[in-house]
Amino acid sequence: MLDVVVLISGSGSNLRALLDATRDPAYPVRIVGVGSDTDAPGLRHAQEAGVPVFVVRPRDFDRREAWGEALAAAIRAHGVSGGPGPVDRTGLVVSAGLMRILPAGFVAAFSPHLINTHPALLPSFPGARAVRDALAAGARETGVSVHVIDEGVDTGPVLRRARVEIRPGESEPELHERIKQLERPLLVDTVRRIAEGELVLDATGPSVS
Ligand code: GAR
Repeated sequence: MLDVVVLISGSGSNLRALLDATRDPAYPVRIVGVGSDTDAPGLRHAQEAGVPVFVVRPRDFDRREAWGEALAAAIRAHGVSGGPGPVDRTGLVVSAGLMRILPAGFVAAFSPHLINTHPALLPSFPGARAVRDALAAGARETGVSVHVIDEGVDTGPVLRRARVEIRPGESEPELHERIKQLERPLLVDTVRRIAEGELVLDATGPSVS
């Protein structure tokens, strides 16, 4: 069993997909905690599943690094230490819609067992407005990438990607929802592969598409 802490800021539909997957005893993952930087609506999915939640707000700290240290302590308190070593000992942190850049000290402490899902085909359209940016650029396709988090913004090694064609006249919410329909199963499957040792995380390793 792989112990996982999920971090969210929003509606938590990816979290919900992970929680639903864990109801199958064959899915080798246990979600031991769900954290947020805010009172995210998606925290209710964890509460409904009986999974502990925690909120660590950046505004309660005078430095981003101090926020990162408090977030790290909350994650460790749920049994996930991150860092090097076999993943079944370190556990895994999954950023699934956390809309904050994690401070360098936090990334260094949890790397490489720290992954993120991003609504674009990285390296295209990194950052907080990936779906809007893809539409504004007139891109014909976009998608989703699951990647290891490094010290940059959406720059770490890509583990999995899936493509979505952009339809003419499509709105940002419509496109984002179609991306999420691929994103949820891709994230569930990527975490399963990490748990089963099929994907071994390496913060400096080659990207896989
Ligand atoms: C997801 O599409 C995720 O990729 C994106 O936020 C959404 C959260 O949806 N993350 C980012 O844009 C991070 N830069 P959810 O709350 O329904 O899971």
